[in-house]
Amino acid sequence: MTQQTTINWGILGAARINQRLLPAIVSAQNANLVAIASRRPGAAAETLAQYAPNQQGIHALDDPQLLLTDPEIDAIYLPMANEEHAEWAIKAIEHGKHVLIEKPMALTASDIDAIETASQRFNVKVMEGFMYRFHPQHQRVRDLIEQQVIGEVRSVRTCFAFMMKPARLYRIGRNIQQGGGAMWDIGCYAIHTARMFFNQPAIAANAQAKLAENGADTSCCGTLDFGEGKYAQFDFSFEHARRSEYEIIGSKGGIKCATVWAMPGDIPQISWWTEAGEEKVEQLAAANHFALEIEHFGECILHDRQPLLDFADARANCQTIEACLESIKSGSRVRIG
Ligand SMILES: NC(=O)c1ccc[n+]([C@@H]2O[C@H](COP(=O)([O-])OP(=O)(O)OC[C@H]3O[C@@H](n4cnc5c(N)ncnc54)[C@H](OP(=O)(O)O)[C@@H]3O)[C@@H](O)[C@H]2O)c1
Repeated sequence: MTQQTTINWGILGAARINQRLLPAIVSAQNANLVAIASRRPGAAAETLAQYAPNQQGIHALDDPQLLLTDPEIDAIYLPMANEEHAEWAIKAIEHGKHVLIEKPMALTASDIDAIETASQRFNVKVMEGFMYRFHPQHQRVRDLIEQQVIGEVRSVRTCFAFMMKPARLYRIGRNIQQGGGAMWDIGCYAIHTARMFFNQPAIAANAQAKLAENGADTSCCGTLDFGEGKYAQFDFSFEHARRSEYEIIGSKGGIKCATVWAMPGDIPQISWWTEAGEEKVEQLAAANHFALEIEHFGECILHDRQPLLDFADARANCQTIEACLESIKSGSRVRIG
């Protein structure tokens, strides 16, 4: 029997982010895009025409059920609205599909528990789509940390901001509890990255936010306490000039990256310094973290491996966000978990 080397993908939702993910699935080494489905008649065909105009044989479906029941499809990419992730991920899992769920995996830790339970029952892989983790620039930073170049990590600062374009204002059309606002759109990245370089979980959060009339946050900042005097500071906004950066301070030096959630055309660059007087700027080769994410998840399915981003990570990120939301509401420090 020949071994399967390619994963057949279906896309559940004609979302805007397909601009990045659809070409990534088409171009990934171990992927074959079979179909895309939308609940809006014609939207799947329109998405295909926009983002894969030269590809033949990809089905455009006007009924998600047809995608879920297609026996040819192994894995589903789920870019529906944040508040729909848990419901549709579980539907896909119950049809025996592996699921790559766009960030955030779900809006509550208990929904993540339910997705994990379903995935165990149906023996399928699930991963939260934090694509930036697959960019080699962050592996280079992790290598520097592991080599003790900056000593022990003591402080991390992350920032993700841009001026929201009017066409995307729908992202603040729902309040935070319903998955709207900057927290679930870009804050989840800033918080994920703030957690990434510590070897221990955050124990408490403090956050403040500017809320629109409908309860969606447009700007937010906060701190995470990792114990032992180790802290992360994060800020994110739809109303600030563009930044996409982190800074890590250790006991002997620091590392900066200003191309964290890289845009097409960004030249990845990191810089680091040490108290011993070393200073270096490193430019890395451009990489498509969306395609790398798709290839990684495909390899995990093909070789029955644990995805890099596991349920424990998704749950910890969600619990941290839940604590931040509580802190925004109460104005006080909130313990995590
Ligand atoms: N990884 C990244 O870089 C990145 C970037 C942006 C967003 N995201 C994530 O990706 C997911 C999708 O975000 P998005 O901003 O691309 O979402 P979006 O365009 O609002 O689409 C979300 C869903 O809403 C429905 N929809 C789309 N346009 C619609 C319209 N005009 N009227 C009614 N329904 C419509 C679609 O479902 P149907 O087709 O079934 O109707 C679609 O799947 C979110 O979870 C978000 O957090 C990730």
